[in-house]
Amino acid sequence: MGFKKEFVWGGATASYQVEGAAYEDGKGLNIWDVFCKEPGHVYEGHTGDVACDHYHRYQEDIALMKEMGLQAYRFSLSWARILPDGTGKVNEKGLDFYDRLIDALLENGIEPYVTLYHWDLPYELHKQGGWLNPKSPDWFYEYASIVARHFSDRVKYFFTLNEPQCTVGLGYQTGEHAPGLKVGPYDYFQIWHNVLLAHGRGVDALREHSVKPVKVGIAPCGALYLPASEKPEDIKAANWATFHLMGDQISDVSWDVGFCMDPVFLGQYPEDVLQKFGPYFPKFTDQDMDQIKRPLDFYGQNMYNAVPVRAGEDGSPVRVSRYDGFPKTAIQWPVTPECLYWAPKFLYERYQKPVYITENGMSAHDWVSLDGEVHDPNRIDFNHRYLKELKKAAEDGVDLAGYFAWSVMDNFEWAYGYSERFGLIYVDYRTQERILKDSAYDFREIIRSNGENL
Ligand code: BGC
Repeated sequence: MGFKKEFVWGGATASYQVEGAAYEDGKGLNIWDVFCKEPGHVYEGHTGDVACDHYHRYQEDIALMKEMGLQAYRFSLSWARILPDGTGKVNEKGLDFYDRLIDALLENGIEPYVTLYHWDLPYELHKQGGWLNPKSPDWFYEYASIVARHFSDRVKYFFTLNEPQCTVGLGYQTGEHAPGLKVGPYDYFQIWHNVLLAHGRGVDALREHSVKPVKVGIAPCGALYLPASEKPEDIKAANWATFHLMGDQISDVSWDVGFCMDPVFLGQYPEDVLQKFGPYFPKFTDQDMDQIKRPLDFYGQNMYNAVPVRAGEDGSPVRVSRYDGFPKTAIQWPVTPECLYWAPKFLYERYQKPVYITENGMSAHDWVSLDGEVHDPNRIDFNHRYLKELKKAAEDGVDLAGYFAWSVMDNFEWAYGYSERFGLIYVDYRTQERILKDSAYDFREIIRSNGENL
């Protein structure tokens, strides 16, 4: 018992966070290139201009992935590297880079899992309104078609969007992420609708233009909930909370898993959100909903923590506060391993698709010890605690397809710049030296035993 033998163990990154080479080989600007240069957005003015220089060091990085025993690498493509203006003329050198990367992965026996969009919208498209522009789903279709035609001879697994919740919620509502806007409620729901339509159009593009059959999914995030006890009413309350609006602000909509995923898998916006915010929604048709709900092969979930709830007197979920001194990672996120049990279970029950954990991991303020190694016992402990829970979910019948650690290497952590380290590989940004952390060696043993050592 435990993980099935085809279970995939991998690691993840994203283009803007690792590639660097921001101005090389004909790449166009994206919204993060621009956002980072505007003072005040990113910790100490850090940028992804160089990042981990993965663009030039991908071979060394793949060798390290191999040493870690990774079976799969989830990475995203930079849209503006492939289409500098977002649409129109293709930059062959951009395609060449990903050809080299994919070929090197395959030569090393590592399966590529490609995410089409991890937040780095071409700046030229932003100037045309970005995701607010009703043409944005067509732009995404064009880009996804090029990717499908060019890479599907070698890439079998695709994700359309990474965390649309952050694209909309952080990029357009709180302004913490690029493009740093704080739009009003009408634009907010229009953007959501366009992003979801883009997902569906992206699925079509991948299916229509791939030269070989491909498997397609999406990798959202969202607020996840845990039952505070094993009492059936608490479990029911946590399940309900995962898929319903928990709060009455628009900002709560951004993190409502049901709001983002019911349209994608069930073809409808949830009633509770429509009831509360319906007047702000753009007019949408059954055809739109059909376009959003395109058949998918799997469900990907990025998962770091969850909120405990118990059933109130009428059964509805009530948040349970955490005790003082509750364990937290460096970035101040709570350590809640049980989310890897409950969330896959709830998601599988509702959407009936094999589940990948597309991201999970923790930031620590790692440094190189006097012995030249990077000792990160907390991350080892974190990984074991979380993965034991995931194993329990597998044993309880949840169809689990794989797990991707976030992240393969330390990288540019968005508004936090380089101040947070999520990697299994330590990166010295002064020299670009890489060091496998203790947790990387430990992860290798987990992979080697397919989780039997947990
Ligand atoms: C994102 C990553 C990010 C990680 C840690 C996820 O929200 O997909 O890009 O680095 O979490 O914050």
